[in-house]
Amino acid sequence: MSLPKRVVLVGPMGAGKSTIGRLLAKELGYRFLDSDRVIEERCGANIPWIFDVEGEAGFRQRETAMLDEMTAETDVVLATGGGAVMRPENHPLLRENAVVVYLKTSIEQQVERTRKDRNRPLLQNDDPEGVLRKLFAVRDPLYTQLADIVMYTDRKSPRLVVRQLVNRISPKTPRHRRQRRKEGRQHVQGTERTQS
Ligand code: S3P
Repeated sequence: MSLPKRVVLVGPMGAGKSTIGRLLAKELGYRFLDSDRVIEERCGANIPWIFDVEGEAGFRQRETAMLDEMTAETDVVLATGGGAVMRPENHPLLRENAVVVYLKTSIEQQVERTRKDRNRPLLQNDDPEGVLRKLFAVRDPLYTQLADIVMYTDRKSPRLVVRQLVNRISPKTPRHRRQRRKEGRQHVQGTERTQS
């Protein structure tokens, strides 16, 4: 079994896609791409501004174009926005030559992790928890249907999630074994011993 060309992370706001994605990319020796951040860079504006000026429909159009571009890249971990699964035309883009991971998280955790956030327009209202519940009802079946791996993230550190993911994605590939051995040597050389 060889490593997939891409690992695509899907899941709701507050699932930890960016934090886990960055760590996972490092572990696999892949590049990390975050769809929302690249949209912001390209647009020269943040997501609330895009929602304000172009509406959610404008943002979704940008998101599809970005996914189209990013899913042509190889050796990448790609973090998608929570609503990327809402457009059926995005589904083949997300799945092609990729392992799709659904980072599944309770509503309580989503509320906790997004509580102070001002960069998510859909949650800037009186009842963000109610919104998250409604979105979950619609999107959870889509995330599940698209996913090759469903990984729960509640009460787990990002590092633990990444370790579990690496074991699922590349249990015993030669490249991975080589990388782990190299990392082990580096740790020993740096006098920091790894726990197994
Ligand atoms: C959205 C999730 C956000 C961002 C936008 C819309 C959604 O990304 O794309 O605010 O519809 O769930 P994160 O899931 O990375 O927060």
